[in-house]
Amino acid sequence: MLIEGARKLSGEVEVQGAKNSALPILAATILSGGENVLCNCANISDIDAAVGILRYLGGSVSRHHTTMLVNTDSLCRFDIPHDLMREMRSSIVFLGAVLSRHKRARLSFPGGCELGPRPIDLHLKALRQMGAVINEHHGILDCYAPKGLMGTKISLSFPSVGATENILLAAVNAKGTTTLTNAAREPEIVDLAEYLNKCGAKIYGAGEGIIVVDGVGKLHGTQHTIIPDRIVASTLLSCAAVTGSEILLKGIISQHLSSVISIFEEAGCKVKADKGEISFCAPERLNAVKNIRTMPYPGFPTDAQAPLMSALTVARGTSCFVENIFESRFKHVGELLRLGANIKVEGKVAVVEGVSGLSGALVEAQDLRGAAALITAGLAAEGTTEVTGIKYLERGYDSFETVLSDLGASVRKV
Ligand code: EPZ
Repeated sequence: MLIEGARKLSGEVEVQGAKNSALPILAATILSGGENVLCNCANISDIDAAVGILRYLGGSVSRHHTTMLVNTDSLCRFDIPHDLMREMRSSIVFLGAVLSRHKRARLSFPGGCELGPRPIDLHLKALRQMGAVINEHHGILDCYAPKGLMGTKISLSFPSVGATENILLAAVNAKGTTTLTNAAREPEIVDLAEYLNKCGAKIYGAGEGIIVVDGVGKLHGTQHTIIPDRIVASTLLSCAAVTGSEILLKGIISQHLSSVISIFEEAGCKVKADKGEISFCAPERLNAVKNIRTMPYPGFPTDAQAPLMSALTVARGTSCFVENIFESRFKHVGELLRLGANIKVEGKVAVVEGVSGLSGALVEAQDLRGAAALITAGLAAEGTTEVTGIKYLERGYDSFETVLSDLGASVRKV
């Protein structure tokens, strides 16, 4: 991606559908018989990967712009091969659904990820509590539930998003009731529960810390519109903030962004949120934000950390980030230094000294949100910034170069 920086943005943009809602809902279609119509599915490679898995398992999926038609009645496999599992780490969310449907599942251990090791111990512990027998050998997870899955009481030691999703998918058709304590409360969990309940599931309390699921026999297909992507929205706000711009975000749910909005207000931005829109106006130069701690929802989201850090590299003063969710999510820092930023990383803490400006350079993305962060920084840097590793960006951002060009940026993919 080639970016000619130090240009202001302006105008309005419709935010894409949420990647992290579409992925578990695509897995959930394994449990719903008949036709499913999923609207607002972004054109991104992680969704293509999930569609590839559904087709491999025997499901039929067709895409019409951002609408997906999914029918898994003809599902005939319970294994997900190595290459499909490695393509996207969050494919682990298929485990609960396949196991619930076939009483068997065989997946290769999901790859580590750019964010460091991504254990799945919480997933496996919970599924075992529901009666699954899971053998791990030669990098393969061999799972059985010959008598089906049983509802039970589960308490997560950490509100893991993926584990919560796997447990919901395993519980909706389980025998009896499942009570999940310390569940993740992300909006994407609520969206998954709403989809499943429209299919006939009985899920109560999604979005709260305790979720109760009464197992039902069978689910039917439904129509569902995926919620907007709060992380893409946060990224666009970072792009406007770093260039001192005024933009209008449309088609978003502002309360999903409240922790992000309050940070931008602390940095001196004016934010007005109403009826699915956010009008955003950044000052010429941002104020530093003393403390940003990533936390489970509704705290500040770890996925918004990298783009926000890019914005604060040119703020007035020193900002301090504490990354509490993933153990190595500062890979973008080395590349930001090449653009002239002044950042020191000590374990899970990154101290960002605001500099007066950045200057364009060749930088390399190493993960999805890091790619978005480097583009964000390039928008503010004097001269040309070249960002390589755009395949990471395309996992989660739909036509990002077009979105930014429509806002007046000089960005092109070559
Ligand atoms: C989901 O990942 C998102 N991915 C991530 O977004 C997001 O950063 C993360 O939730 C936190 O909000 C999708 O929804 C597809 P976790 P997930 O389980 O489910 C540890 C993006 O950029 N953990 O809540 O993998 C884990 O190592 C992606 O869109 C265990 O130790 O997140 C991590 O440190 C990146 N054992 C922490 O918990 C487990 O069994 C949070 O993981 C599971 C997780």
